[in-house]
Amino acid sequence: MTSTALDRPLLDLTDRRNFRDGFPHEFFIGLRAHMPIYWHPPTEFTPDGEGFWVVSRYDDVAAIQRDDKTYSSDKGGNRTMGGTALKDESGAGLMLNMTDDPQHKRLRALVNKGFTPKAIRELEGEIDARMVALLDAVADAETFDVVTAIARELPLQMICAVLGVPQSDRTQLCEWIDLGIATPSQSIIAKEYLDQIRDYGLELIQEKRARPEQDILSKIVHARFEEDGSQLDDRELIAFFNLLFPAGAETTRSAIAGAVQAFIEFPEEFKRLKRQPQLMRAAVEEVVRWTTPSVYKRRTATCDAEILGQPIRAGDKVTFWEMSANRDERAFEDPFRFDIGRWPNKHLGFGAGVHFCLGASLARMELTVALRNLCARYDGFEPGGEKSWMPNNRLFGLRKLEVRPIKARRKM
Ligand code: HEM
Repeated sequence: MTSTALDRPLLDLTDRRNFRDGFPHEFFIGLRAHMPIYWHPPTEFTPDGEGFWVVSRYDDVAAIQRDDKTYSSDKGGNRTMGGTALKDESGAGLMLNMTDDPQHKRLRALVNKGFTPKAIRELEGEIDARMVALLDAVADAETFDVVTAIARELPLQMICAVLGVPQSDRTQLCEWIDLGIATPSQSIIAKEYLDQIRDYGLELIQEKRARPEQDILSKIVHARFEEDGSQLDDRELIAFFNLLFPAGAETTRSAIAGAVQAFIEFPEEFKRLKRQPQLMRAAVEEVVRWTTPSVYKRRTATCDAEILGQPIRAGDKVTFWEMSANRDERAFEDPFRFDIGRWPNKHLGFGAGVHFCLGASLARMELTVALRNLCARYDGFEPGGEKSWMPNNRLFGLRKLEVRPIKARRKM
């Protein structure tokens, strides 16, 4: 049977219930082995009533990520809308991650400077102080929820600091994102909540226009394109805010919480990191590979193409699954082993090609600081109660993780 002969999906990847107990790894092991390019037929949850291609092996995922001419993040074929989620979005062509070069390059140049490794190194002290305060707050607790106590807070506080969002508004914004992710919707974040974030963003942009500060949002609001001196209009600025805030707040949260869960499953790896702090760089990359918080992306074929001999038509939706690529037996030795010494580690957790994650340096720094502090305070973690996953197949991670920390006998 060829993949195109199916009229029912083998597992409905658009049904969030299939992600309720974690990522369906077993299913993807089967796809990688037998159907590495698979036509997912439309289902009751499929946006726009359309099927889509599912690409699961490392080499093919990397090839699509790097071929942005054939596989557009904006639109392709006869489509008037497109984007990087399954649902066709009108924001395609406007929001940085949903544009193609040369427009993409032009937009990215406006924000690049704020996220370089050098700019992020300057934030290390602040990230550390915030992490210490978060851990101090649970110092006496027998058990605590890693997500609310640390994983959600650290990236949220930092993206507020970087964008110049008042810290007093962070909980409200985060609530809108969380509700938006948990609400069944065909978009990544449900529109009603994204609209609230947009309205908030618009007010903040007006504030930054009138009273600029040192933050990145102020810089974007006042930036001028080199070629003609023009500035971003409100729609474009909102698109930046609606991308940067959730991108900065959500993904790193899943990586931090997922790291603690990994240390519960592989306690020896935590002890190893405590003994060998020089492995920190490798450990951070392994956490991103292991957790892959942004699990799949969609592109649109701009022309007729072929993947593993399978013809793809112009306008087809093509999804590639980084989570699957990051567990591909062909690319990683013993991929289901969490190994903090894994090096080199060519995971695709931050993407690849022109859309490589803009916030990768910030995420790496937050993870480094978080792991360093956890190592200093604790000897390990045990399950301490409830554990649940966010019901979302795109921004994927732990919603709750109650742990019983084993306090360090001696501070490092
Ligand atoms: C562990 C944490 C993170 C992970 C796993 C992650 C993952 C990714 C991935 C896979 C992409 C590629 C999207 C695509 O190919 O369509 C991406 C792009 C992006 N990320 Fe991240 N991200 C993380 C943290 C952050 C943070 C902290 C920010 C902060 C601002 C951020 C901002 C962005 C932006 C703006 C893009 C779009 C870049 C472009 O299209 O040129 N990310 N991220």
